[in-house]
Amino acid sequence: MKIAIIIGTRPEIIKMAPVLDEIEKRGIDYILIHTGQHYDHEMSDQFFLDLELKTPDFNIGVGSGSHGEQTALMMKGIENVLMSEKPDLVMVQGDTNAVMAGAIVGGKLHIPVGHVEAGLRSYDKTMPEEINRVVADACSKIYFVPTEESAINLIFEGITPHDIFITGNTVVDACIRNLKIAKKQSNIASNLDPEKELLTLTMHRPENVDNTQRLQNIVDALLEFKNLDIIFPVHPRTVKNLKNFSLYQKLKEKSHIKLIKPIGYLDFLLLLSNSKLVMTDSGGIQEEAITLNVPCITLRYNTERPETVKAGGNILVGADKEKIINSVNEILSNHNLYNRMQNALNPYGNGKASERIIDAILNAHDKNELNIKMPENIKGNVVHSLIKINTDINVSEYENRENAIVKIVYEGDLARFPYPQLNLKNKFIILDKFQ
Ligand code: UD1
Ligand code: UDP
Repeated sequence: MKIAIIIGTRPEIIKMAPVLDEIEKRGIDYILIHTGQHYDHEMSDQFFLDLELKTPDFNIGVGSGSHGEQTALMMKGIENVLMSEKPDLVMVQGDTNAVMAGAIVGGKLHIPVGHVEAGLRSYDKTMPEEINRVVADACSKIYFVPTEESAINLIFEGITPHDIFITGNTVVDACIRNLKIAKKQSNIASNLDPEKELLTLTMHRPENVDNTQRLQNIVDALLEFKNLDIIFPVHPRTVKNLKNFSLYQKLKEKSHIKLIKPIGYLDFLLLLSNSKLVMTDSGGIQEEAITLNVPCITLRYNTERPETVKAGGNILVGADKEKIINSVNEILSNHNLYNRMQNALNPYGNGKASERIIDAILNAHDKNELNIKMPENIKGNVVHSLIKINTDINVSEYENRENAIVKIVYEGDLARFPYPQLNLKNKFIILDKFQ
C-alpha cells in the first residue's frame, strides 16, 4: 500500500514524525507532502533536522495568506499530487488548514483519509481550527482519536464507531522518544537563571495575539512576575502583532522576560521539562505539559483538550490579567495544588499511539475496509433506536445478532464508547439499523 502524508506547520511535523518513523520501520511505501504554510527555518526545516525526517517529496509552497487563499492553494496543490501519485490512503494530523484541505481533496477523489488527532472539539466556531476539525472529520474515512472523549464527540456527529480507533496522542510518542535525545544534545539549560523559577511562555492564537486588548492584558500580567525567569520563544504571528501594537519593546526591556526566536523541538522539550510552570495558548503544549508533569496555565476561554483540565494538570485563565496573576501566584505558593497539578494523570496514552495507528491501517487495508466504493445494493432508511439491554451480551455479539451498529452505550447517564467487548447488561444503547 502507498500512503500520502500531508503536513504544513510546526505541530504537524512534530506529531506526524512518530507515524513516519513507524511507516518506515514497517517498510510501507509513502510520499511526504509539505503545504509550505510554515516556511521559516525555525518553523519548519529545524524540525526535519531535529526529528531526522526525510525532505518532503513535494512542497506546495503556499506561504502565508488569508484562509481562503491559503486553503485554495493547498487544495489545488494537493489535488495535483494525489491525482498523479494515486495513494491508497491520505493522512492528515490535527486541525490546521492543511488538514481541512487534505481531507476535502482526498474525500472527493475517493481516496480514504486518515485523520490523526481526530474528534477534538472546543465547540467554539470563532476558532479557525474548530472549522477545520469539523470539516476534516466530516470528510475522513478512518479516525485516530487520542481519548474516549474525542471518540464520543465524533459519534455524536454521526461517525460510525467502527471507523474510530482510540490510540492516544502521538505527541506522547514524540515526547518520550525525543526528551532522551534532548537531554544529550540540547544546551538550552545553560541559558537559564539558576536563582529563579522558570516559566516557559508561548502564544500565537489569533484570539489573543490579533486582539490589542487581550494581548495588552497578557503583557500587563507578565510584567508583574519579576520573581520569575520567563522564557518566551515568540511565534512569528506574535512578533508581528507585538510590534504593531507597540508592546514588543515593553517586554524586551524587562530583565525577567527573555524574548527569543522560536526554538527547535529538542530545545523546547528540554526547556519545558525544566520549567516550574508553562503558560500557553498552544494545543500541543497543553498535551506536552501533562506528559512531562509540568503544571499548565492556558491563556484561553475554552480548550479542545478538556481532559487535561479534568485530570487537574491544566487551568484555563483566558486573557484576563487578574486571573493570570492570581493563578500563577496560587499555583506557586500552594504546594498541595502544585503537587496535584504536577501529578495529574496523562490522558493521552503511553507513547504507543503511532504503533496503534499503523496497526489499525494495515488491519483495515488487509480486510479491504479502506476502500471508498460506489453502493451496489439499495439501502433503506436508517433507524436510530434507544434500547435497554437486560441480557449478558457484549457489543460485538449484539451487533452480529441484530445486524446493526451500537452507536453509543449509556452507563447510568454517562456516554461510553461501544468497545467491542463492553458488556451491555443493564445498560441503555443507541442502535443504528438500516431497514
Ligand atoms: C497555524 C495554524 C494553527 C497552528 C499554528 C502552529 C491554521 C489556520 N492555523 O497558525 O492552527 O496552531 O499554525 O504554529 O492552519 N509566519 C512567518 N513565518 C512562517 C509562518 C508564518 O513569518 O514560517 C507569519 C506570517 O506573518 C503569517 C503569520 O505568521 O501571516 C501566521 O501564520 P499562519 O500559518 O497563517 O498561521 P499560524 O498562526 O502560524
Ligand atoms: N515548539 C517548539 N519550539 C517552540 C515552540 C513550540 O518546538 O519555540 C513545539 C512544541 O513542543 C509543540 C509544538 O511546537 O510540540 C506546538 O506548536 P504550536 O504551539 O505552534 O501549535 P499548536 O500545537 O497550538 O497547534
